[in-house]
Amino acid sequence: MEINLISDTITKPTYEMLQYMFNAQVGDDVYKQDPTVIELETRVAEFFGMEAGLFFPSGTMANQTAIKLHTQPGEQLIADKYAHVYHYEGGGVSFNSGVSCCLIDGDRGMINAAQVAAAINDPEFYHSPLTSLVCVENTTNKGGGACYELDDLREIKKVCDANNLKFHLDGARIWNALVAKRQNPKEFGAIFDTISVCLSKGLGAPIGSVLLGSKADIHRALRIRKIFGGGMRQVGYLAAAGLYALAHNIERLAEDHRRAKEIAAVLATKPWVAAIEPVETNILIFSLAEGYKDHLLIEKLKQKNISISSMGHNKLRIVTHLDYREVMHTYVLETLSKF
Ligand SMILES: Cc1ncc(COP(=O)(O)O)c(C=O)c1O
Repeated sequence: MEINLISDTITKPTYEMLQYMFNAQVGDDVYKQDPTVIELETRVAEFFGMEAGLFFPSGTMANQTAIKLHTQPGEQLIADKYAHVYHYEGGGVSFNSGVSCCLIDGDRGMINAAQVAAAINDPEFYHSPLTSLVCVENTTNKGGGACYELDDLREIKKVCDANNLKFHLDGARIWNALVAKRQNPKEFGAIFDTISVCLSKGLGAPIGSVLLGSKADIHRALRIRKIFGGGMRQVGYLAAAGLYALAHNIERLAEDHRRAKEIAAVLATKPWVAAIEPVETNILIFSLAEGYKDHLLIEKLKQKNISISSMGHNKLRIVTHLDYREVMHTYVLETLSKF
């Protein structure tokens, strides 16, 4: 039994999902003639109460398209120092949009309104880049699956409105936040100019993201997606996986959250663990006590067929997901207890 806890992106489509994909009605989506893609875009937009959606092959491309939509070369966006758009999108912010990042030292990947207000450059001071966009991530990845309170996001939105800034949500794992905090997706739709959501993380689809926004923004995003090479043809087969995931795999995320918390409870009893970030969803980040080496723990666990990953600085990450079943969980808890 191989147990892979490096990420929630490692899941494989189930037989039922594949059957659903196999039966999809398709057309040429570059001509917007694929009914399954249109159904997915419409359904996700309605779910968040936003006007329109656009299907993307990846969360990275959806985020990069949003940044391109909301900025001009030479401008600056504000994000947390852990932001995926800054750390893990290959420098796309500067490559695709010619934009720099003003990074905020937030709390587990989350920033607040006062920090945003303090990070905005005076638009009259032409020596500095013009601030035009704020990006937040919910849940946070490098921040350990932390979730925002809606009121905190509304406060940031007020600062954006007062300063003529656009507001983008990297909602790759928004589903986890919705389940963990029992939030209404339409509340998010009312706050943000654009939201990107991923179907290929906790929801278990093999591929796919949707960018949400106003009709006008999504119309412009269609051109940007084309420029980025993201126009796809009979892609309804893949959109169907997303539809299946939306119908079957949202509520069960609570199981992933429970399991992550149970693993944290075992780790909390271990003298070799120095600290564990609060576990709110399916991502667990912990650091090792002095003298213990992350690569050695990774190797020892590997010998027991359990894979986890390093975050650098002696921090480790465990991510629970759809393919991590109860029998595996029991084995992981037992194995860690004995370490
Ligand atoms: C917070 C966050 N945003 C965006 C992405 C990008 O998604 P993709 O891997 O589909 O490009 C990821 C991927 O892990 C992520 O964790």
